[in-house]
Amino acid sequence: MDLLIVGSGFFGLTIAERAAAAGRKVTVIDRRHHIGGNAYSEDEPETGIEVHRYGAHLFHTSNATVWEYVNRFTAFTDYVHRVYTNHKGVVFPLPINLGTINQFFQAAHSPAEAMALVQELAGEFDVKTAANLEEKGIALIGRPLYEAFIRDYTAKQWQTDPKDLPAEVISRLPVRYNYDNRYFNDTWEGLPVDGYTAWLERMADHPNIDVRLSTDFFDESQPFNKQATVGQLPIVYTGPVDRYFDYVEGELSWRTLDFEEEVVPVGDYQGTSVMNYADADVPYTRVHEFRHFHPERADRYPTDKTVIMREFSRFATREDEPYYPVNTPQDRTGLLAYRELAKGEDGVHFGGRLGTYQYLDMHMAIGSALSMWSNQLA
Ligand code: FDA
Repeated sequence: MDLLIVGSGFFGLTIAERAAAAGRKVTVIDRRHHIGGNAYSEDEPETGIEVHRYGAHLFHTSNATVWEYVNRFTAFTDYVHRVYTNHKGVVFPLPINLGTINQFFQAAHSPAEAMALVQELAGEFDVKTAANLEEKGIALIGRPLYEAFIRDYTAKQWQTDPKDLPAEVISRLPVRYNYDNRYFNDTWEGLPVDGYTAWLERMADHPNIDVRLSTDFFDESQPFNKQATVGQLPIVYTGPVDRYFDYVEGELSWRTLDFEEEVVPVGDYQGTSVMNYADADVPYTRVHEFRHFHPERADRYPTDKTVIMREFSRFATREDEPYYPVNTPQDRTGLLAYRELAKGEDGVHFGGRLGTYQYLDMHMAIGSALSMWSNQLA
């Protein structure tokens, strides 16, 4: 074995694929029972509908190198992501655009009129001196739109009143002064034609790649553990950086999600893939309906059943799946200390979402793995 990779998410699999193609023998371990990290998906058994196990995953990128690379393993559908939100029992398009504004104010403003209105409403606070997330939200889009679409949704995401959240949590709140409600602005977007898991498995399908599932790097009863391997061969580690160092510099904080999945006896539950719930009286943040990610599979999917998943957000404990870095000032100090420690770990390369304590979209994880491969490992 020439290289050990801890974690079979997109970061680890990209390194594995590149290394195998260059003739190296690679072992990939993952503590989960499946490959693919958080991008893993599987067919819900009763309906055959593909469900993204760790929350909805939409592929999008403007990076030509990444787009060329991912197309070696899968074709993409022409799915275009759009999100709607339910506020007080009325459905509005997101991100906030001219359609949202005109529906909300029961108006027919032109782009210039809507812009002038938002600017006038936003005058209540100044972005530069906003003391907390609430003041910044109002300074960016004005109180009425902030209170309808941002305040309670943010409070549910963070289990915290936005008045008690730092202003830096949001840098901007994009408002589009036209009717474009495409969620992503990237050059390329789509979903893998035969699902995420088929794509992930093709990346790992090489005689030089040995994948060991249900294998934890910190479990000394298995041979590919930290104690036995560090210093013996190059390692790419994509697990949590604080866990690697046994939390000596404290725990980095994360938010996690709880998912409540249900098979509903109707052909179409909400008419779209993602519906946010903006208000405080609904405990979940959004509902996914997976059949709508693949309209091209209509003839395969049942017409009398559908799969929905309600999503709840909360702070993670050590036992939970870490999803989004919280990034408090204390976390940033801890991260710097871990980065210093990481420099001293000869032959261990920290990468990916957990290894660098950064939210990374799939194309970013793949792009940064391609760079690590060519700059540090090749
Ligand atoms: P990832 O977390 O996927 O993989 C790390 C792997 O390491 C895991 O499989 C884990 O089990 C393993 N591991 C950890 N500790 C270990 C140990 N001690 N021993 C062995 N294995 C260990 N992106 C996007 O482009 N579009 C989208 O719509 C979304 N949506 C989305 C929703 C949600 C809820 C989340 C949390 C994330 C997204 N993403 C996304 C981001 C996407 O999931 C992310 O880019 C990839 O997971 C990054 O891949 P990594 O390989 O870095 O981590």
